[in-house]
Amino acid sequence: MAQLKSPEDLEIFRLELVTRKDPDKPCISVCAGAGCLAYGAAEVIEVFKAEIESQGLAATVDTKGTGCPGFCQRGPVVVIHPEEICYLSVTPKDVPEIVEQTIVGKKVVERLVYTDPDTGDKAPYESDIPYYKYQERNILSNNIKIDSRSIDDYLVIDGYSALAKALSRMTAQDVLDEVKESNIRGRGGGGFPAGRKWEGSRDAPEKVKYVIVNADEGDPGAFMDRALLEGNPHSILEGLIIGGYAIGAREGYVYVRQEYPLAVQNINLAIKQAEEYGFLGENILGSGFDFNVKVHQGAGAFVCGESTALMTALEGRVGEPRPKYTRSNVKGLWNRPSVLNNVETWANIPFIINKGADWFTQFGTEGSKGTKIFSLVGKITNTGLVEVPMGTTLRDIIYKIGGGIPNGKKFKAVQTGGPSGGCIPEELLDLQVDFDALTEAGSMMGSGGMIVMDEDTCMVDVARYFIRFLTDESCGKCIPCREGLRQMDKILTNITEGRGKEGDIETLEELSEVAMEASLCALGKSAPNPFLSTLRYFRHEYEAHIKQKCCPALYCKALISHYIDPEKCQACLICLRKCPSQGIDGGKGLIHFIDQDKCSNCGTCLEVCPPKFDAIRKFSGEPVPARILEENRKIVRKSKSK
Ligand SMILES: Cc1cc2nc3c(=O)[nH]c(=O)nc-3n(C[C@H](O)[C@H](O)[C@H](O)COP(=O)(O)O)c2cc1C
Ligand code: FES
Repeated sequence: MAQLKSPEDLEIFRLELVTRKDPDKPCISVCAGAGCLAYGAAEVIEVFKAEIESQGLAATVDTKGTGCPGFCQRGPVVVIHPEEICYLSVTPKDVPEIVEQTIVGKKVVERLVYTDPDTGDKAPYESDIPYYKYQERNILSNNIKIDSRSIDDYLVIDGYSALAKALSRMTAQDVLDEVKESNIRGRGGGGFPAGRKWEGSRDAPEKVKYVIVNADEGDPGAFMDRALLEGNPHSILEGLIIGGYAIGAREGYVYVRQEYPLAVQNINLAIKQAEEYGFLGENILGSGFDFNVKVHQGAGAFVCGESTALMTALEGRVGEPRPKYTRSNVKGLWNRPSVLNNVETWANIPFIINKGADWFTQFGTEGSKGTKIFSLVGKITNTGLVEVPMGTTLRDIIYKIGGGIPNGKKFKAVQTGGPSGGCIPEELLDLQVDFDALTEAGSMMGSGGMIVMDEDTCMVDVARYFIRFLTDESCGKCIPCREGLRQMDKILTNITEGRGKEGDIETLEELSEVAMEASLCALGKSAPNPFLSTLRYFRHEYEAHIKQKCCPALYCKALISHYIDPEKCQACLICLRKCPSQGIDGGKGLIHFIDQDKCSNCGTCLEVCPPKFDAIRKFSGEPVPARILEENRKIVRKSKSK
């Protein structure tokens, strides 16, 4: 491939690619994102290719592995273009039928399309599936259209046209103005306006400047950035090059965690291809602008996502935060002006340049413009990635898109903003999600993690879990965070294990205040959020744990006990055989009985007891009532004496 030396070269080449591509030619797109690969997508792709070949259709049908379209719960996801027929949970065994029925026969395979669980209605097309219908997928929708390893596929969907426009028709100031006007706020955590950050760097006197992609993504349950980097790496690269042009940087870095091997592979390949085509290197598209990008693999420390720790790690030192006497956009990597933005922030830039700030600002709320990708996980029917305009209500995300809470359970809370975010209760389900509304509610946007919790979730244990995570991930450099979080973890563990005492809540509040005021970086400053938000909305659960030694959600093992309801037990032996503590007495035809001394409260009996018998009961806040225990014993004794 000869290098493209001007915007005109690029347009001619793009036209060739588009002309070569027959828009009516069927294309089988199989999601090859990490989620679908885990479900066996690689084999599905292979079997499709073999089937197409064996039926002599190779010249008339394309088959490709693509990026993640978001509905990971129902992977492997297959979309047949141009009709956009969407098949879910496809296995290699389904492939011959899809080829015969859909590719050859132009018919839909009904059993593989989305079926509404309530009405039984079928939704064969992607756009009809409620999971997609209520989203605004500006960024994510491209993932399923392209083979993420093909730069030509990216060019066909107008890739690098924003770069060509910026370099040939806009000054660096024009680009900066457009980004400022879009009012895009960083998608990685703090929500700082990107345009202002860029301007600070551009205006800094130091000549050598850097632009950096933050692809550390350490929040438990979050995978938006991974999906973008795996599924459409050129879009991030294009945004980064435009950013470099706007602020006057000649070098860029992609800091990506090494636990994302596919993302690392795809971004490295994208860089190589961009160099070959002339989108990276010297005199890009004949503009006189030079720019190069390097990839740095992080070692997976959560704190390395923090801007100063990330830059320290990029410098080759231990990734610990440093004091921000001067902002890193002025004194960052090697003390030079450095713009660090999140993957999703960079992915928005080509859209803003191509379509303009006016287009971008039509989405969102007054203070938070554009769309935002969330990873919707936890106790939710449809798990996956969701892109919605800022300002969409939690209720719409959780119920219309997410399909609500499975197994007939009640919604309890949603945790947003990553480990140092907060839990939002049911009464705030109509909250319109944006940076400011979430902060006001005691949580935060973070990078877009959304963990849904049902009635079985103990909110004290949730706080303990996240504080433990942050204690483990604290770099240990400053005392309020290192020691304060350790103490909070200890107290919360005591509470969940039945050793809570009067005054614990107040001590936790004091420790929170010190951590928020005196920690070196935002890890420590925001770490108390999981405790403070659960205390704000679920104080009664803390009090029940401490005063009545009761876990209202019947979750904390040390505070619950299981027993078998003798009226309901059918002596089926299932729980008796599965109990890992061998704590269940009884036998064939003998009503079963849990020996409380042996029981570890693991809940296996509850899980395996057939729902039609429903014989296992859980208690908290009091021992199993003596009357019931006595009844149990009597029944067992009687059964044994027969
Ligand atoms: C402990 C900690 C971890 C963070 N992890 C990430 C991360 O994984 N990805 C990210 O983009 N930002 C992360 N951030 C936020 C970054 O410090 C920074 O604000 C962000 O990368 C800036 O980009 P943005 O303005 O586009 O959001 C983290 C912050 C803290 C305090
Ligand atoms: S990984 Fe395939 S839909 Fe997300």
